[in-house]
Amino acid sequence: MDYSELKVPNHVAIIVDGNGRWAKERGLPRIKGHDAGFDNLIKLSKYILSKGVKVLSLYVFSTENFKRDKAEVDHLMDLFVLMYKSKLREFNENNIRVVFSGRDEPLPQKVIAARDELVRETAGNTGGTINFCMNYGGRAEILDAVKKIVASGVDVSDWEEKDFAKYLYQDLPDIDLMIRTSGELRLSNFLLWQNSYAEFYFPKTYFPDFHEADFDQAIVEYTKRDRRFGGIKK
Ligand code: IPE
Ligand code: IPE
Ligand code: MG
Repeated sequence: MDYSELKVPNHVAIIVDGNGRWAKERGLPRIKGHDAGFDNLIKLSKYILSKGVKVLSLYVFSTENFKRDKAEVDHLMDLFVLMYKSKLREFNENNIRVVFSGRDEPLPQKVIAARDELVRETAGNTGGTINFCMNYGGRAEILDAVKKIVASGVDVSDWEEKDFAKYLYQDLPDIDLMIRTSGELRLSNFLLWQNSYAEFYFPKTYFPDFHEADFDQAIVEYTKRDRRFGGIKK
């Protein structure tokens, strides 16, 4: 789609949801839904960044997702390693920088190693940023920031919000458009600070079926939104 008449958000965030239900509808095990979801993820991300979006945050695993069956968690961890290793070249060819948000514990060492290599090897890229939120929780992020601040002993008495934001996992711009696929109408602990004034879009489509044309529709809808930030429309 031609985006010249559309408003392009600076920071888009996606809660990648519905992989399990996508598989169930097809009589497949849940892990097949994750395979399909992650196949779609990088292709879609490249498209989104090619349209002028500067930062794309992707919720791929929450701190709460460790509550799932071990077999599903193990499969997801293997998928992350595979994705980070196999897509490194593609990220570099597309000039995409990759960063991560989330806690280390209790991620397996192989995931941490693949993550750190991807960050290191793409650090110089300038064609847009993907922020993978993995083992991520919004409250955990705010709490971790407070702990860092207290441990540093810095005087916060004249701080503004932006001074606090520097202590979050990544110092990224506010989210403009937050998309959650699969029809669920909640944040599930995703980027609580950064979503404070985001526009929300909740397509019913399960993530493995959410493709370029579906993202175009999100941008058409976003273009129609009247963002007032508490002010009065003139
Ligand atoms: C989201 O899909 C992917 C991850 C949590 C990694 P789900 O696995 O939550 O899929 P549903 O919501 O059960 O359909
Ligand atoms: C949120 O989805 C986490 C990710 C998509 C990575 P969930 O499927 O885990 O969230 P709930 O349980 O429906 O709130
Ligand atoms: Mg889900």
